[in-house]
Amino acid sequence: MAKPKKLIVGNWKMKPATYKEAEKIFKGVVRGLDRVRGVDVVVCPPIPFLTELKRSTTSKKLKYGGQTCDSENAASRTGEYSPTMLKSVGASFVIVGHSERRALGETNAVVHKKLKAALDAGLQAILCIGESERDTKGEYVTFLQEQLKTAFKGLTAEQLKQIVVAYEPIWAIGKTAAESNVRAEHVHEMVIFVRKFLTTRYNRTIAESVKVLYGGSVEPTNAEELLSTGQADGALIGHASLVPGEFLEIIEIMQKK
Ligand code: PGA
Repeated sequence: MAKPKKLIVGNWKMKPATYKEAEKIFKGVVRGLDRVRGVDVVVCPPIPFLTELKRSTTSKKLKYGGQTCDSENAASRTGEYSPTMLKSVGASFVIVGHSERRALGETNAVVHKKLKAALDAGLQAILCIGESERDTKGEYVTFLQEQLKTAFKGLTAEQLKQIVVAYEPIWAIGKTAAESNVRAEHVHEMVIFVRKFLTTRYNRTIAESVKVLYGGSVEPTNAEELLSTGQADGALIGHASLVPGEFLEIIEIMQKK
């Protein structure tokens, strides 16, 4: 059986400040993608930039995603946008439950609703989970279990085909590789943990078909250790995705696997 493709997702967050800068980063990424094989690459730029960026290239090597979406596909909600809207402008992915959104008040129940709305709209959802600290009593495991339990409540095996899980420990997010304490064993432990959870809920075949990404302080210098030794199916990349050279280097590291 062919090995499933690795997945690298760039989460630009609320950066850069202007469309002009965004276009420069985007062009740098697109240029380098010509030599990429066997890795799916997704960029999640700020929504005001998405359509224009997509229009600026004919490259088929890139997929697009939103960084969040509403929990409804039709409602009067000033300022929000639905998964259906994302899909209609060419996004095929959406990040759901990023810790920076959870910090703004998104509960597990809201994340579950958003996830369902994204699936209903036909998007691939990147469900983020992650603890704020690793306590010695293992309470972080219960915390993560709860995030998973609520997110997957009532979802069918068929719906799982549209889900990717991203383990993103809050204590590693936004740090440089040099500052971060995250190690391959943290990643590997969580890849196994997510697969065990899915095996119990569904079955082993399904659990193995769901991609588990790692995110938090991934840079070219630690990508090999965290992603390969950690046995993740790819990565969700924040700050390094805004530097085309670094983003492409991480993609190339994954390509060799
Ligand atoms: P980082 O962010 O790569 O800058 O740590 C990752 C994320 O928040 O998705």
